[in-house]
Amino acid sequence: MARGSFVRWVIRALLVVVVLVAVACVIVFVASGRMLSARVEVPVAVAPVVLPEPDDTEALERGRYLVDHAFNCRICHAEDFGGRAEIDNAAMGRLWGPNLTTGEGSVTRDYTPADWARAIRHGLAPDGRRLILMPSEDYFAFSDEDIGAVVAYIRSMPPVDRPHPGLTVGPVARLLLVAGQISFAFDKIDHAAARTPATPGPTLEWGRVLGTTCIGCHGPGLSGGTIPGGDPSWPPAANLTRHETGLAAWTESDFVRAMREGRRPDGTAIRPPMPWQAYAGLTDDDLQALWLFLQDAAPKPHGGR
Ligand code: HEC
Ligand code: HEC
Repeated sequence: MARGSFVRWVIRALLVVVVLVAVACVIVFVASGRMLSARVEVPVAVAPVVLPEPDDTEALERGRYLVDHAFNCRICHAEDFGGRAEIDNAAMGRLWGPNLTTGEGSVTRDYTPADWARAIRHGLAPDGRRLILMPSEDYFAFSDEDIGAVVAYIRSMPPVDRPHPGLTVGPVARLLLVAGQISFAFDKIDHAAARTPATPGPTLEWGRVLGTTCIGCHGPGLSGGTIPGGDPSWPPAANLTRHETGLAAWTESDFVRAMREGRRPDGTAIRPPMPWQAYAGLTDDDLQALWLFLQDAAPKPHGGR
């Protein structure tokens, strides 16, 4: 081949690659745009949250307890609930947990009890848009009263003026969305599942409810592994089943120490994103319920999810 025609061949091949990449980008952008703007409906009647009486201080305290020690709402909606970016970079975009107070920039000021239930338990904005990053699957199993207590507590926060800077979903997040590597909570929830009203206490029944908050990271089978949509720097979630690669050798007091002090029986530290500092404030009864829940899970090798 003459030198000139070889160069022309290389240029043509490069052009084809550039065009293919551009077409792939457009496809990902259009497909993810459709997913992000689609409007859907909860396939069952939405049970509104049950708000306590305004002077019910016990319910407010229950709401605070759940928010701070089990639900971690503040990680994404800010300490003062005025909103913050949980993720903000060029690849993933600006995933903004919006202002839930009644101040300037509030998205929940005109919410009805059914709107709260739709967002927190079903993963939908009032207009039917599927919420991204918001882990509604963690909250689905909780009672109308518990979620009502959480809402009342959030409503009792002083108004914060913080406008919404706009949610942007970056190219890598769009690619992960189209590839099914990250998904909307709405699509993971069995909306018709019966919500067995469990009374909080040191029981397996309550552990099954409280333990749904562990599943996003540790997997539906609790055997851990790579956290879907997680930061690449995070360690894989640990195996919490009674398998030898999990907690087979652990006693209940080993578990309580891990949750309260962030240390394994051999003394090594449990690393982020495991939010043990939040769990450290769980009551003895709630830790016992979680232990019964873990003991009840079928043993599985690490990473089987
Ligand atoms: C892992 C981060 C994260 C956690 C934890 C989290 N949220 Fe969210 N939440 C978000 C993000 C991000 C959005 C906005 C998503 C969007 O607009 O697509 C959101 C949206 C919402 C909305 C809907 C607002 C609207 O646009 O109408 C409500 C209500 C809400 N969250 C309440 C809560 C409550 C209550 C908790 C705790 C029980 C909680 N969130 C925990 C990230 C989180
Ligand atoms: C945001 C993600 C996340 C959530 C939510 C979470 N964990 Fe973890 N957890 C992890 C990660 C990651 C590790 C491994 C940390 C390490 O390797 O240092 C871990 C480790 C642990 C360990 C230590 C086990 C071992 O052998 O190292 C226990 C016990 C544990 N988690 C229990 C729980 C329980 C119970 C819940 C729910 C109440 C829960 N976790 C919720 C991410 C999470």
